[in-house]
Parts: sequence; structure tokens; C-alpha cells
Amino acid sequence: MSKKFDVVVIGGGPGGYIAAIRASQLGMNVACIDEWKNSKGGPALGGTCTNVGCIPSKALLQSSEHFDHATHHFADHGIEVKGVSMDVAKMVARKDLVVKQNNDGIQYLLKKNKVTFFHGRGSFVKAVEGGYEIKVAGAAEETLVGTQIVVATGSSARAMPGTPFDEEMILSNEGALALGVMPKKLGLIGAGVIGLEMGSVWRRLGSDVQILEALPTFLGAVDEQIAKEAHKAFIKQGLQVELGVKIGDIKTTKKGVSVAWTNAKGEAQTLEVDKLIISIGRVPNTLGLNVEAVGLNLDERGAIVVDDQCRANLPGVWAIGDVVRGPMLAHKAEEEGVAVAERMAGQHGHVNFNTIPWVIYTSPEIAWVGQTEQQLKAEGRAYKAGTFPFLANGRARALGDTTGMVKMLADATTDEILGVHIVGPMASELIAECVVAMEFKASSEDLARICHAHPSLSEATKEAALAVDKRALNF
Ligand code: FAD
Ligand code: NAI
Repeated sequence: MSKKFDVVVIGGGPGGYIAAIRASQLGMNVACIDEWKNSKGGPALGGTCTNVGCIPSKALLQSSEHFDHATHHFADHGIEVKGVSMDVAKMVARKDLVVKQNNDGIQYLLKKNKVTFFHGRGSFVKAVEGGYEIKVAGAAEETLVGTQIVVATGSSARAMPGTPFDEEMILSNEGALALGVMPKKLGLIGAGVIGLEMGSVWRRLGSDVQILEALPTFLGAVDEQIAKEAHKAFIKQGLQVELGVKIGDIKTTKKGVSVAWTNAKGEAQTLEVDKLIISIGRVPNTLGLNVEAVGLNLDERGAIVVDDQCRANLPGVWAIGDVVRGPMLAHKAEEEGVAVAERMAGQHGHVNFNTIPWVIYTSPEIAWVGQTEQQLKAEGRAYKAGTFPFLANGRARALGDTTGMVKMLADATTDEILGVHIVGPMASELIAECVVAMEFKASSEDLARICHAHPSLSEATKEAALAVDKRALNF
């Protein structure tokens, strides 16, 4: 006997669980299926983000940053600490607890919002009168019928061709976040977001970290000036990043991993490390969904093909988050989840792709929204730029963290803010004001005329806005 729902959401990550909650808030009868298991085999809601992504990586970044402060920066404040050591097992246990609190929190939220949760793998069986039949394979087998289906099955780490992850020596994000001992030598392939965040964690704790990146430019998607500033800071910290490399054979030995690679000059090299993290992007999760049974279209990357409203090629089927086009970010998945729920309810949900912020949680943090200077140049758009260094910001000096700057780009004629790029302390928090400004189509003058608390890092944003008109006051 099948159970009938207005909406069946497959996937309980930030896209899926948020879509389920919003649909339920709008009066629909909603089921959410998720297969993630915790160490005891029970449900672990929250997807990649909560279990092996955003949350655990930020927990480890926080712990390692405390360690870095204690070993390198406390002395500047007159604080003498002796015999500082790191208990990696305890750091990982704390991270696990933070993850569990989030898992439990999401389970509570589904219950509170009257979403029926099924633990297991969801797959399409067939189209039926008024919807689709979905099988749940898990602790208990269930058959559900949903009038509308939201696919939010997320993504998984991409492996190097011919080198599967063993999660012992050759690690994806899953193994990288579960390392119980500090590797003396750590190698990473890919200097993208994961490479830099994970490389930072272990570099701070004392690992010798080497990152190998195929592209000749460092963080090519980031505003060039900001990427250069960040690169300088990372090199100073001792993070070794080799650009323009070609990876050859990867072999595991009894002692570790050996990577053959060629540098930008074409010289053959070998990297011997205890552990190797491969972070070269992610692939959409569609295996096991049985899309063939209903004729759901996938593109050549295996992503579900959707229009700009997240509608798939079948009536009543939607897809959101990492399993579709667009940036693979938790907040992008959430926004799409809310928009789809509202569309299913006949409302006009909307996601503004131009104001989705990006943050890289290294130290210094890197955050941006809107267009980069190189994009504006390529478009031939006339723009004005204003920058303000944290070196000239009183709060940054008091914090002892003056690396970086805020850079604002505005239209040369209308003064509308087109992009804001930050490298420096708390960039992740500072970017929120810039997102709000851009959503309201603010001009740089609007931001420059707003009173910002003193002393605060946000004054650097105001000063960058003033600098667009060449009238910064404190630099
Ligand atoms: P997911 O979070 O992947 O969730 C999909 C869920 O569906 C999973 O639980 C999966 O088990 C389940 N599932 C899949 N197939 C089925 C099926 N057939 N039946 C039932 N369940 C199924 N983004 C940020 O915005 N900020 C960050 O700081 C950040 N840090 C990250 C750090 C790392 C190391 C990684 C790997 C990613 C990070 N991301 C970050 C990206 C972020 O995790 C993803 O963009 C986000 O999780 C995507 O959400 P989603 O709901 O689309 O998919
Ligand atoms: P990424 O796309 O950020 O970076 C991958 C890097 O690997 C690129 O620089 C690419 O040029 C390089 N690369 C690809 N193939 C290579 C090869 N054969 N040899 C050497 N280098 C190669 O992907 P990453 O770091 O795996 O992260 C996946 C996604 O997860 C991110 O794009 C982001 O969407 C999300 N994420 C977001 C975070 C955040 O918001 N703070 C944190 C971590 C992940």
C-alpha cells in the first residue's frame, strides 16, 4: 500500500530539507527521504553540508585557528603560553559533536514542521495517475506516491581517473575530515576551495602541506587583485602551492602516497606524502535514482537538466542544489529549495544568481559578491574601483589582523555597485552588507553615506565605497 503525499523530496541536505520545510509551511503534505547514515546506522540529516562539508570543515578550521593563535599570536598580546599541544583526536571528537548537534537539529525541524521523514534511498519507480511512484529502500521498504517530486540528491567528490578514493591514504573530503592523526606530509591535488581550506587546517597544526594545481593562475574565478593578495598571505604562512602542474601516476606505498607530476616548466617531479587529499571538484549524485524509469533528462556531467525555475523535463518534477547547474554552495541550494516550494504553491519564488555570495574560510578569509574586475573588463563595461586596506582600519589593528582589503566596483555612470571583493578578517560576515546593498541596487554613494559603527571592520567597506569616488577619509 503506497503512502500519498503532495510533495516527495529526495535528499535531506540544505536544499532538500529546506524545500520540505517551506513546502509544509505553505500547507502541503510533505515527505523527505534521505539515506545518510551516522556511525550507528541511524539517520544523519543535513547532507554533505552537515556531515562532510561546510559544518565539519568550519569546526576544524576554528580549532586549528585557535591553535595557531596560541602558538603564534598570543605572545603579541603579552600572553605567555608554554607547552601548547594539539590533541587531534579531541579536535575531531568536538567536530563530530558539532555535526551531531546539526543532524539532530534538522530532524527536530522536520518534525516541528510536520514533514514525514523516511530513512533510506529514494528512487523513481514509474509515473502514475497524478504523480510519481517512489521506492524507499532502507531499514524498511516503503512505496510513496508524490504529486510533485523535488530531487535534491547533492554531489560527491570527483576522483582522479584511475585513482579511486580508499579514504585511508587517498582521501576525498570524507576521509580528509576524519583524519585522526596529523599527517607529517600532506599533499593536495586542486587548489580550489576545499584544497585551501583543508590545507590551512593541517598547515596550522604543523603539517608540511603541498598543493598541486593544474591551472596556471591561482583562484582564477576570484578577482585578480584579491587572489594575488591572498596568494601572498598563504605563501607567507608556509602553504606551498604549485601552479600549472600535470599530474601523472599516483601510487600508494606502505608508507604513504607517491605522486608523479610535471611542473609548469615541464620538469618531472615526485611528491611523497603520508596522505593525499584530492579536491578537484564534485559530481552530481544521480546514480541509484533510476531516472531511466521515468525519462528524467541528465546532461553530459550527469546533472539533472532544469530550466531557470528548477523545473526538470517531466511535469511536476523539480531539481535543486548541487545536482543541477550553478555554484555548488549550501546557501544556493537553500534558496532554490525555498523558491521551488513557493512555485509549487503557485507563488513566485525567485533566486538572484548575481547576488549569491562566495566565501573561502581560510585566514585571511576571502569573500565576494557580483562581478570581478576581469569580468567587467571582458564585458567592456565602464566601471570605477575603490579599495581600502585593513592596515588603515583601527579595529583590524586592535585585532592584530591587518592583512587584505575591501574592493568595490561600481558602474562608471550610474554608480550602481557591481561587485564587492574582500580578503581579510571576517570577510565572511562583512560580505552580508554588500549582498544587501546589491539586492537593493545600491550605489557606492548609498553605502558611503551610511553610518558604520566605530571601530569596526565594516568601516573598511564604507571607506572602499568612499574610495570609489576617490574620497576615502582614512587612507
Ligand atoms: P547535499 O548536501 O549533498 O545533500 C544531498 C543528500 O541527499 C545527502 O544526504 C545524500 O545522502 C542524499 N541522497 C542522495 N541520493 C539519494 C537518494 N537516492 N535517496 C535518498 N537520499 C539521497 N558550501 C557552502 O555554501 N559553504 C561552505 O562552507 C561549504 N563548505 C564545504 C566544504 C566541503 C569539504 C564540501 C565537500 C562542500 C562544502 N560546501 C560548502 C558545499 C555544500 O556542502 C553543498 O553545496 C551543499 O551541501 C549542497 O546541498 P544539497 O542539498 O544540494 O546536497
Ligand atoms: P573547486 O572547483 O573549488 O577546485 C578544484 C580545483 O582543482 C580547481 O582549481 C581546478 O583547477 C583543480 N583541478 C581540477 N582537476 C585537476 C587536476 N587533474 N590536477 C590538478 N588540479 C586540478 O573544487 P573543490 O575544492 O573540490 O570543492 C568543490 C566545491 O565544493 C567547490 O567548488 C564549492 O562549490 C564547494 N565548497 C565550498 C566551500 C565554501 O563555500 N567555503 C568550501 C568547500 C567546498
